[in-house]
Amino acid sequence: MIPVILAGGTGSRLWPLSRKNFPKQLMPVLGSEYSLLQETVRRVMRLPEMGRPVVVTNEKYRFIIASQLQAIGVEPESIVLEPVGRSTAPAAAIGSLLALQSGGNPDVLLLPADHYVQNVESFLACLSMASGFTENSGLVTFGIVPDKPETGYGYIKRDAGVPDSSGEGFFIDSFVEKPDLARAEEYVASGNYYWNSGMFLFKAETYLKELDKFEPEMVRCCKGAIDKAHEDLDFLRLDKDSFARCPEDSIDYAVMEKTSKGIVVPLDCGWSDVGSWSSLYEVRDKDESSNVSIGDVMLEDSTNCYMHSSERLVAGVGLDNIAVVESKDAVLVSRLDKVQDVKKIFSRLKKDG
Ligand code: GDD
Ligand code: MG
Repeated sequence: MIPVILAGGTGSRLWPLSRKNFPKQLMPVLGSEYSLLQETVRRVMRLPEMGRPVVVTNEKYRFIIASQLQAIGVEPESIVLEPVGRSTAPAAAIGSLLALQSGGNPDVLLLPADHYVQNVESFLACLSMASGFTENSGLVTFGIVPDKPETGYGYIKRDAGVPDSSGEGFFIDSFVEKPDLARAEEYVASGNYYWNSGMFLFKAETYLKELDKFEPEMVRCCKGAIDKAHEDLDFLRLDKDSFARCPEDSIDYAVMEKTSKGIVVPLDCGWSDVGSWSSLYEVRDKDESSNVSIGDVMLEDSTNCYMHSSERLVAGVGLDNIAVVESKDAVLVSRLDKVQDVKKIFSRLKKDG
């Protein structure tokens, strides 16, 4: 099994700590000494069947990623550099094409670099079990039982159980990426849907064949980008012209919404997408007033707050449901239940340079 780690995102909702030049997946935001990327790699490398990881990322993060992998004693198969971001469907194709180059038709485990897993044993047991579903051209995704109508996730409606799978895998009736709130509420209430965890497992050829059905140009451009790629130190630099011509789309929209080969394997391991300050609030330890305080923080008469100090003392009085994140050059103050919109600030910053 070849782990292909997607580490090219900008982590816009964790601004102001996550920055274009140093995004959240490279930061130790969970309170351990390791970054989210390091946690992701360390977690899966515990499985004996796991090959060396392929990390797909962009130019800017190459040295940090190389040194973070070295720090945990992992030698990657490759650190692939995308000249431009084309979202996750092409990144998965690049990973699959490289996996094929290493011989045979291996299982590819596609992993975002920025997830939290509480129970690693259950997570690994589920991964090992799920590899049984890739043999018959299954595109496996891991489904999480939803507890709220989160609109930032894909929703998977399960169909009948895969024969002889003792309830461990189900065919997919439908896959809806990031529905609006009304539909998300309906899905959660129905009890028939899982969240898409964003982790996938498939034979390299299965993914490439499915992608070729729906996005042939993507496959063509990715092949060109690899054929004309050049190695530079430890990095594989994709051919700029070929990759720049590649259409941009996520694996969820480009393949999972359309394929009939999807299989969902329910995953119960205390999973969280560490996407926003509220999801970090949920996974961190809280005081008796349900506040999370990181760094030099003082609170009086305050409840349900996420307070994060990096450089200076941060103090709050009489607060409820507030996130304050202080960094060297910017301070975020937001209602904790509105922190998804931090990405709007981030994109305005990008526009203004
Ligand atoms: N190499 C590379 N290139 N990586 C990328 C790119 C890219 O252009 N764009 C995003 N990534 C990486 C991100 O760093 C992250 O690790 C992963 O791919 C997923 O991208 P996100 O941008 O975080 O996706 P999402 O959270 O909006 O949605 C996905 O994950 C959800 C669960 O966390 C979807 O798969 C949803 O269906 C799913 O519910
Ligand atoms: Mg995400």
